[in-house]
Amino acid sequence: MVARPYVIDEMISAKSIAARIEELCKEIQSEFSETNKLVVVGLLRGSFVFIADLVRELDLPIEVDFLEASSYGDGMESSREVRILKDLRGAIEGRDVLVVEDIVDTGHTLNHVTGLLKSRLPARLKSIALLDKPSQREVDFKADWTGFEIPDEFVVGYGIDFAQRNRNLPFIGKVRFTEPE
Ligand code: IMP
Repeated sequence: MVARPYVIDEMISAKSIAARIEELCKEIQSEFSETNKLVVVGLLRGSFVFIADLVRELDLPIEVDFLEASSYGDGMESSREVRILKDLRGAIEGRDVLVVEDIVDTGHTLNHVTGLLKSRLPARLKSIALLDKPSQREVDFKADWTGFEIPDEFVVGYGIDFAQRNRNLPFIGKVRFTEPE
């Protein structure tokens, strides 16, 4: 199959992302100021760039762990059924936990993952998403912190992919097809 050609239009610059992360980290620090150690859980793979920038800006004692849930596969359609492909390495019972996601779209992924992690009885569980597409929501879920609300556009860059491409762009851009389907 020949991939349908597309271009990427910048939507959120690297500079705006960095400035927003600074603001978010101040809020996270005040929420967790008393923690003896915060477990920062990145949802693979889309959050890997975000979590790297986030933890370097966070002035708190932290640990990092990762969890992978199934999502879009290689297409542009969200799947409603969420499966855990890779679980955490560490136990979180009695711990302070921050779940880091790239995008909340239908809400199924973070809703499922936070439900699962809550059942493991952490002391506190909060979530942060870099992007939120509220118009696409199918379940009532809102992350505790959101970087940017965006319209219903398919975006790439800053860790986020389209069929595994474009994760290495330093900014968030929207995909625009240049030829009809
Ligand atoms: P949800 O379960 O529908 O909220 O989907 C969340 C997941 O879908 C995210 O973690 C992304 O992996 C993926 N996703 C949602 N929107 C986009 C997009 O615009 N570009 C790339 N991946 C997306």
